[in-house]
Amino acid sequence: MAKGTVAWKIIKNHLVSGKMEPGEEIAIKIDQTLTQDATGTMCYLEFEAMGVPEVKTELSVSYIDHNMLQTDFRNADDHKYLMSVAKKFGIWLSKPGNGICHQVHLERFAKPGKTLLGSDSHTPTAGGMGMLAIGAGGLDVAAAMAGEPFYLKMPKIVGVHLKGKMPEWVTAKDIILELLRRLTVKGGLGKIFEYFGEGVKELSVPERATITNMGAELGATTSIFPSDEITRAYLRAQGREEDWVELLPDPDAEYDEVIEINLSELEPLIAQPHSPDNVVPVREIEGIKVDQVVIGSCTNSSFVDLTRAAKLLEGRRVHPDVVFAVAPGSKQALELITQNGALLNFLKAGARILESACGPCIGMGFAPPTNGVSVRSFNRNFKGRAGTPDAKVYLASPETCVAAAIAGEIIDPRKLAEREGVKWIRVEMPEKFPYGDEAFIPPLPKEEREKVEIYRGPNIKPLPEFEPLPETIEGEVALIVEDNITTDHIMPAGAKILPLRSNIYAISEYVYHYVDPEFVPRMKKLKEKGKAGIIIGGENYGQGSSREHAALAPRFLGVRAVIAKSFARIHHANLVNFGVVPLEFKNKEDYDKFSLGDEIEIPNLIERLKKGEDILVINKTTGEEILCTYNLTPVQKEILIAGGRLNYIKNKHRK
Ligand code: F3S
Repeated sequence: MAKGTVAWKIIKNHLVSGKMEPGEEIAIKIDQTLTQDATGTMCYLEFEAMGVPEVKTELSVSYIDHNMLQTDFRNADDHKYLMSVAKKFGIWLSKPGNGICHQVHLERFAKPGKTLLGSDSHTPTAGGMGMLAIGAGGLDVAAAMAGEPFYLKMPKIVGVHLKGKMPEWVTAKDIILELLRRLTVKGGLGKIFEYFGEGVKELSVPERATITNMGAELGATTSIFPSDEITRAYLRAQGREEDWVELLPDPDAEYDEVIEINLSELEPLIAQPHSPDNVVPVREIEGIKVDQVVIGSCTNSSFVDLTRAAKLLEGRRVHPDVVFAVAPGSKQALELITQNGALLNFLKAGARILESACGPCIGMGFAPPTNGVSVRSFNRNFKGRAGTPDAKVYLASPETCVAAAIAGEIIDPRKLAEREGVKWIRVEMPEKFPYGDEAFIPPLPKEEREKVEIYRGPNIKPLPEFEPLPETIEGEVALIVEDNITTDHIMPAGAKILPLRSNIYAISEYVYHYVDPEFVPRMKKLKEKGKAGIIIGGENYGQGSSREHAALAPRFLGVRAVIAKSFARIHHANLVNFGVVPLEFKNKEDYDKFSLGDEIEIPNLIERLKKGEDILVINKTTGEEILCTYNLTPVQKEILIAGGRLNYIKNKHRK
């Protein structure tokens, strides 16, 4: 047991029920929530359906940062819906253009020692502030706003011992890329990564946040840094020193596991297409021609990142064959680089300046060309995520990105620096940040909330009702997929699909669109026949994001069970939340015993779940009987039996 660690102390302070032993179900109180618009519309529709008059958290913030294209009424309508909901229920609203939720939350709201639940998988960014920040599905976040605790399995707490001192041109991004190289995208399942050691003092709060942000790519529950004097200085500069508390591991703290990283031995690293763990030293792949370079995203778009990147570009030009763009992470960061001259360096170098928003990360307004190479300071490079299915996206530090922008090809930034005579700079934190609070709308006083009418444009569709779990599932294999299927594969994003997030009827037409365009028509035929769809998956099914539409939309189409070799944590929880049974092969080789269209029966499901027995899956086409297990807590079983969490909460309020 990892007693005395920072994560352990925060969990202990927030424990509502359960034993703090790895793998045991615990429930924790949530102090703060955040949503972004792409998950937020559905989350607030769910919150409304719960019938709770106002949020019960200490603080809830609704950010508008993902879906910024306003080429027709839909996104603008959704934004207006979110603004009216915030007024109605006592929620802070961060207006479009104010910045990316994680960056802005770190600057203005994150507090050491508190818990944060966000409907975005990179919510752990706030762990850079010593906060226990977890990404979850919108329904979990809606429940937290309604005062419900958050249920999870007590994770193992892994200590990451940062030793030594980072050499020049090695940055926070290289630390997390090194961990991804070692542990892979599955390495963090069921774990919290807690950083300690003298190397922690090397890192500013935004740099720590780069590391905790990309802990999400390890599949970790969350990542966290201690809250020390560096945290205090950052909060002081943000005008919030009163939010600071010291939070350090006890001298005798014991971690469940310890990983050591000697910072002095690190070198600039890069993740190759199409996975964030496909990491190699930059020097090994030098010479690859580059079409575009972007600095931004919730990973690397802080004031520190932008200032250093601009300094490297000073007096230089972007290579003629490269389009280079910068998307500052927040209005605050943009204001700072305007003040310190960095913005001018970008402009003079020939950069495109994009809005302070997610944008290129999800193929919004800056997708790579066909078959193109894009080098990004971002966190994800799954196939097609950037908007161009055959593009090759590389992930690296802003410094490595700038080096590629200047050279027109991938190059080790140390080599470019030597060639161009560029000196490495240390970015000092300002004594006072410009707060940039003019783009927030604070919660309305209580007495004024009643009068607020919620605005619903034609794109806002109410949630469908879902029936409870049947005792026996009768269905067919509707799809068979391989290992590491991401939520992007299941429910793609992009400019065409994102505006449909608040319209389950329209968005469900795109489920598995790029994997198998026949999937949706097949599901419709099954629905007509009154049969359920069963998906067969490989390892780490549903990795990637907290996108609950990746569970909700298949459920809407009639998927009632996913049988996989293993599941990613958030998606597993989302499947349960929407009443889709996540089953795991007892014997992984049984994966091969299914073909598309096989008739399936899963008998005595509720009885077996209640008794804790393995589940029998009968392949009626081949006659094979396959045993499956499941990884469900007692509460999750009740949720599944009720047909999903919304039914479960409604039933609870009815009692
Ligand atoms: Fe936005 Fe991409 Fe981060 S979509 S929240 S910048 S992972």
